[in-house]
Amino acid sequence: MPADLVIVANRLPVDRVPLPDGGWEWKPSPGGLVAALEPVMRANDGTWVGWPGGPVEDADPSELEPFDADGLHLVPVGLTAEEIELFYEGFANGTIWPIYHDLVAKPEFHREWWDSYVRVNEQYAAKAAEVAAEGATVWVHDYQLQLVPQMLRDLRPDLRIGFYLHIPFPPAELFAQLPWRRQILEGLLGADLVGFQLPGGAANFVRLVRQRVGYKTHRDLVYLPDGRTVRAAAFPISIDVAGFEELVHDESVRARAAAIREALGGPRKIFLGIDRLDYTKGIYARLRAYAELVEAGELDVEEAVFVQVAVPSRERVEQYRLLRDEIDRLVGRINGDLGRIGRPAISYLHNSYPRAEMAALYTAADIMVVTPFRDGMNLVAKEYVACRVHDDGALVLSEFAGAAAELRQAWLVNPYDINGMKAALLEAYHADEKDLTRRMKAMRRTIQRHDVAAWADSFLTELAEVAPHTKSPRQARGR
Ligand code: F6P
Repeated sequence: MPADLVIVANRLPVDRVPLPDGGWEWKPSPGGLVAALEPVMRANDGTWVGWPGGPVEDADPSELEPFDADGLHLVPVGLTAEEIELFYEGFANGTIWPIYHDLVAKPEFHREWWDSYVRVNEQYAAKAAEVAAEGATVWVHDYQLQLVPQMLRDLRPDLRIGFYLHIPFPPAELFAQLPWRRQILEGLLGADLVGFQLPGGAANFVRLVRQRVGYKTHRDLVYLPDGRTVRAAAFPISIDVAGFEELVHDESVRARAAAIREALGGPRKIFLGIDRLDYTKGIYARLRAYAELVEAGELDVEEAVFVQVAVPSRERVEQYRLLRDEIDRLVGRINGDLGRIGRPAISYLHNSYPRAEMAALYTAADIMVVTPFRDGMNLVAKEYVACRVHDDGALVLSEFAGAAAELRQAWLVNPYDINGMKAALLEAYHADEKDLTRRMKAMRRTIQRHDVAAWADSFLTELAEVAPHTKSPRQARGR
């Protein structure tokens, strides 16, 4: 049935994962985008267009038919092994990802990657055009699909189109390196509303449109020659706060948190890092900072432990493979040098976990350490705050994560400054209860006021206002 609200994202919220016996199972997809959008879609009757993971060559044709999972209507887009290599691992994650993250790694520019990006974006646009009802709202997500808005508008001028970028949008000086900069800006301008995490991203975009495309702009508006107006604005993303609070009150999650503490050595204070294993996340520098504190005797392995969860990600991309080896070596060296029997300095887990296990980890941890070099938002920081229902626990947060704009009461750090990070880790470790409560209370108030439902509502309301020519969307009420 044609849908009035269509989400288009690179991935479906479930991933088709092969099993050793030759079968396969659906697993929740990794990352913040899915975590944020799933509750919004669940509360609506929307349709989600995306890639189910894995190459189309390995899929049974029936798996590429639209299907329902857990109350969600899902429409798969099949990618070939070659498209996964050129579009997903190549242009999306080898070109755009590093440029949009401050060149933390070196981007590569290949014309065949770009050609594949164009072709795959066409496929997503065609699929969305097929399932959207007359005058529907289509909400396109993230850097993998920046050409979809204009492609979709060409196919279906009746639609109201929104685009949201989950990662940072870079300053003009970095974006200008892209050989296809103009095509990307024009692709995004197919949307009626282009949303960013922070006002800086929106301002970068408007400035680039003026400079590189030559359209007239005024504040957050772009005036197109065909008479359309496009708005660019910030909509900082959030999480399902009530959902996490509910989990934390669940008896089994509380018992699991207690079991984790026990397994880690009872009263030892727990530092926690949870990240996709990505070079933007600053895992290496953070573990080094911690190890130096142990080495200097500022922290004792009998009294403290660092739990680092690294969620496997983009494992076929060279830079991610190298990072995994580096972290493996570092953890081995730190534990070899500084651990004692039954008392590793770092407890390292290379795995992904369901939400309930994450909630148990957040509940068990005394100090959450989130130190990316650059991050659009970082939902892990917000999830930790949501789980601290007793207003305790400390958050050490990079000033280069989007979340730092809202979670001002965290210990804010520059992740490039190892000594600064060490000082913040120690301060958070020694902070008194009153200080912790004051900070956590304020941060909890912030995220409670602004959860994922409020985020989706504000984007869709604004979209309806800038594009009144189509019928109004059903609002995304997550509560
Ligand atoms: O937020 C950035 C992002 O690429 C999201 O689109 C996605 O949810 C997450 O990171 C995980 O990345 P991937 O889909 O490449 O595994």
